[in-house]
Amino acid sequence: MLEGKTMKGYHVAVVGATGLVGRTMLAVLEERNFPVATLRPIASGRSAGTSVPFRGALHPVIEISDEAFAGVDIALFSAGGDTAKRWAPSATARGAVVIDNSSAFRMDGDVPLIVPEVNAAALIDTAPRIIANPNCSTIQMVVALEPLRARYGIHRIVVCTYQAVSGAGKKGVDQLQTELEGRNASVRAFAHPIAGNALPHIASFERDGFTTEERKMIDETRKIFGDQGIMVSPTCVRIPVVTSHSEAVHVELENPFALEDIRSILENAPGVIVIDDPEATAYPLASTATGRDEVFVGRLRRDPSIDNGLIMWVVSDNLRKGAATNAVQIAELWHALRQKEEVATEV
Ligand SMILES: NC(=O)c1ccc[n+]([C@@H]2O[C@H](COP(=O)([O-])OP(=O)(O)OC[C@H]3O[C@@H](n4cnc5c(N)ncnc54)[C@H](OP(=O)(O)O)[C@@H]3O)[C@@H](O)[C@H]2O)c1
Repeated sequence: MLEGKTMKGYHVAVVGATGLVGRTMLAVLEERNFPVATLRPIASGRSAGTSVPFRGALHPVIEISDEAFAGVDIALFSAGGDTAKRWAPSATARGAVVIDNSSAFRMDGDVPLIVPEVNAAALIDTAPRIIANPNCSTIQMVVALEPLRARYGIHRIVVCTYQAVSGAGKKGVDQLQTELEGRNASVRAFAHPIAGNALPHIASFERDGFTTEERKMIDETRKIFGDQGIMVSPTCVRIPVVTSHSEAVHVELENPFALEDIRSILENAPGVIVIDDPEATAYPLASTATGRDEVFVGRLRRDPSIDNGLIMWVVSDNLRKGAATNAVQIAELWHALRQKEEVATEV
């Protein structure tokens, strides 16, 4: 279906186009000049008839259905796990490649879970119909850790997150704004008030006491690194910040390191920016990362409580690198692979 198309552009569907991630996807597709021949914004029946902006024009939103995927080459899904499970097979059956932001397929053995700076190779030599985008808190952590893992190896990660309310979608932002205005939220995204609180509870609790968000950080980190032996111990916390997740990452490397070498590796790592000058009170903030695509790292220091221990502070925009930008980077990777195939076929 795609032969000869890669130069002209693709028929792209964005499922969840009216949501926080979907709208950010439209912006990122436009900013990065992804070869979109036609755009099909898709959402639930609630949004049918509304429109979303793309390349200076308003595009009508259509209700999800089997027919909505006819002729689509790439479908970027950001509409939750249930929607992905219900409709991704419909999109792939009609010839589309699906890049899904939900957790629906992430741990499936035949679905690559991709962070381009870390494991782009997992997409090469495969022709998957579904590609999964990892959880936002996992993405920023593995981007910062990968260059250190490649050089020193990683034995164990202890991570505490400080996650923005936009990670819970439109409802999360609405609850915080409503509470800040002193009103009662009619639709609640969180189990408790979020204004003035830190909630050690993201998604649902499992029998072992961890939350599903924490479980994702464990399982997805292992899958992305291709190492089931890495120990990951997370506590995920929601805080009253609108955008960008912060993380305190305590990592036990496998080999001794020099702190200056760590700094130099991170300064040269793809997608990473180091801001680390405590005397000048310079360290990454949520406000630093918001609207940016990079992962910001600071507060680099040795952990004196263990051998080969390193502590750092990692901040990134959950809607961009944590979701939309990573998904569009996957689409770019897929596009580059298709172009190579076409050239090989022509030769
Ligand atoms: N927010 C983040 O930081 C983040 C990060 C990584 C991954 N994700 C994942 O991305 C997805 C979307 O998150 P979000 O923050 O954008 O949520 P959101 O702001 O609540 O938006 C949800 C979107 O999904 C659509 N949708 C909901 N139910 C649907 C259905 N049955 N059929 C078709 N469309 C439906 C909504 O359409 P209507 O407007 O019509 O309701 C809306 O466009 C979720 O899977 C989330 O886990 C989010």
